Amino acid sequence: MSIQKLVGKKAIVTGGTRGIGRAIARMLLEEGAEVAICGRSEAGTTRAVSELRGETGGCIYGAACDVSCPEAIQKFFAFVDDKLGSLDILVNNAGVGRFGSVADLEAGEWHRTLDTNLNSVFHFCHLAIPRFRARGGGFVVNISSLAARNAFAGGAAYNASKFGLNGFSEALMLDHRHEGIRVCVVMPGSVSTEFSGAAGLASWKIQPQDVAEVVRMVLTMPERTMVSLVEMRPSRPAK
Ligand SMILES: NC(=O)c1ccc[n+]([C@@H]2O[C@H](COP(=O)([O-])OP(=O)(O)OC[C@H]3O[C@@H](n4cnc5c(N)ncnc54)[C@H](OP(=O)(O)O)[C@@H]3O)[C@@H](O)[C@H]2O)c1
Repeated sequence: MSIQKLVGKKAIVTGGTRGIGRAIARMLLEEGAEVAICGRSEAGTTRAVSELRGETGGCIYGAACDVSCPEAIQKFFAFVDDKLGSLDILVNNAGVGRFGSVADLEAGEWHRTLDTNLNSVFHFCHLAIPRFRARGGGFVVNISSLAARNAFAGGAAYNASKFGLNGFSEALMLDHRHEGIRVCVVMPGSVSTEFSGAAGLASWKIQPQDVAEVVRMVLTMPERTMVSLVEMRPSRPAK
């Protein structure tokens, strides 16, 4: 049900090719927003753009951008400036899960996880804020995880990235709330995506469109109110 609040808004969704990011991009297109997505490969991004355009008839653009690389993010913003012209909404969703004990985890995997899940969010926000200021405000929605609160064995890199993301998000909110910039961190539990391979799909899990529904609610709150943190979990987790 469209409530017209997002019509014409300009949005970035990182990692919009699959899973949660794709469901959020789709929701935004259905609401009449103009959306730019990225993924690591040109082919994957082009395919997702064409499928989402076909499914919704919406205004969507996409370019390859490895969010773990600050130079690639700069280039992506030049692309977004060219295609969208301005920016109202930034959804930092792209993420990877590299799991292993601290002894077993390779240093490269540690850095890739932190660069993708956390450092990228700084760079995206740093570049988005001046564009939000030019519009008198904006939204950042960061897709974190319940792993931002619950550490688990083998989760050192992933837990560190998501614990860090929650702390970053709260500080970001406190830094910029008076400029009309609203920040929300969404912490889902198990979501049915291929994040950990095809075995990750299951009907008992949160579905990607359920996360998109929460993001829709966050983005359509009255201006006086900011939903700053949401926890989501499957109602009946598999035993
Ligand atoms: N699934 C869960 O149970 C779950 C639970 C809580 C939180 N989350 C979080 O939700 C977010 C999305 O996960 P998902 O479940 O939707 O996973 P997914 O199906 O594996 O999708 C991940 C998305 O991120 C993109 N991506 C990954 N690394 C990237 C990079 N370096 N640069 C650009 N794009 C990149 C992927 O695009 P390409 O492959 O095309 O590059 C893809 O679009 C992640 O931040 C994850 O931590 C997931």
